[in-house]
Amino acid sequence: MKKSLRPLLLLALLLSSGLLHASAADSPKLPRVAILATGGTIAGVQATPGAAAYKPGVLTLDHLLSQLPGLEKVAALDGEQVANIASQDITADLWLHLARRAAAQLARPEITGVVITHGTDTMEETAWLLRLVLRSDKPVVLTGAMFPATSPHADGPANLRSAVATAVSPASRGHGPLLLLNGQLHSARDVRKTATEALDTFQSPNDGPVGLATAAGPVFNVPAATARPAPGGGFDLASLDASTLPRVVIISAHGDADGLVVDALLALPAERRPAGLVLSGVGNGNASATLLAALERASRAGLVVVRASRTGRGLVDRNMEVNDDALGWIAARALSPQKARLLLVLGLTRTRDLAELQRLFDEA
Ligand code: SIN
Repeated sequence: MKKSLRPLLLLALLLSSGLLHASAADSPKLPRVAILATGGTIAGVQATPGAAAYKPGVLTLDHLLSQLPGLEKVAALDGEQVANIASQDITADLWLHLARRAAAQLARPEITGVVITHGTDTMEETAWLLRLVLRSDKPVVLTGAMFPATSPHADGPANLRSAVATAVSPASRGHGPLLLLNGQLHSARDVRKTATEALDTFQSPNDGPVGLATAAGPVFNVPAATARPAPGGGFDLASLDASTLPRVVIISAHGDADGLVVDALLALPAERRPAGLVLSGVGNGNASATLLAALERASRAGLVVVRASRTGRGLVDRNMEVNDDALGWIAARALSPQKARLLLVLGLTRTRDLAELQRLFDEA
């Protein structure tokens, strides 16, 4: 055999034997992307193909990638199955584990960006949590699907392909974690799931999407320099411990709302009582006089109260119908109740000073 053919033959043997992963044989010029898989509908399976019923978080990342021929020409891929759950089951423990895995991948000089596959139900919370604790300028792109992988309408493969293309694009740097679905890119701060089944479920009601995921790659509407930094300079991931995070509970306002749930929480033994409450308020973060009175009892008992809005759009401002200054309450500003909850959880690991906590929400 000609001497020069030997290395090629060896490479072919290694590839066919499976000893060498395809990505290891990729051109060294390809950017490298780490994909962290957590489950969700993108990894979901129908009992009967085409049926409405399905189970999220079943297929592995390897299986998802096997449906994407040609992706290895876009990026060299490192995959990690961090979990395989329906995202409604995400816990603080898993959030921090995922954040640490993302931080570790971002710290690798050879990694251009990180893609996270995730259920859509809590994807906006995970994106926001990552915004609060990740420090890297490298792209982090969360994606998922509204139809399970076995559906004839499966949207996951195209979303995952676009997420990798977004993660390798230099234009994606500095925007903070991005949420990609249905050809749109959203910022972690503003994005919300707004529909149970629609493909355009993710909307950014205050600011609009930050960009589009086009066939030619991401196109941003706003420069990265205008992306809001993490409030308070972000939080130190290394010092966070899920078992000691302050407990924060969301309380819903509605017509005929009473203070039953708040008073039940106040009746708990001190060690089980939440450290804070987020009001998912009507209108501008408001509630019935009865519920407001219960929340006042809560803040007198030492719980921090944050007012957010269930409306889905707009800001919650201080001292409009509710006198926050007199009550010692905090206005959630642009954050949804669920994102306000996460910021309060992390904020309370740093301070109980109300002005300082309000500043975090103002900066968010
Ligand atoms: C989930 O959030 O895990 C289920 C729903 C979805 O991914 O769309």
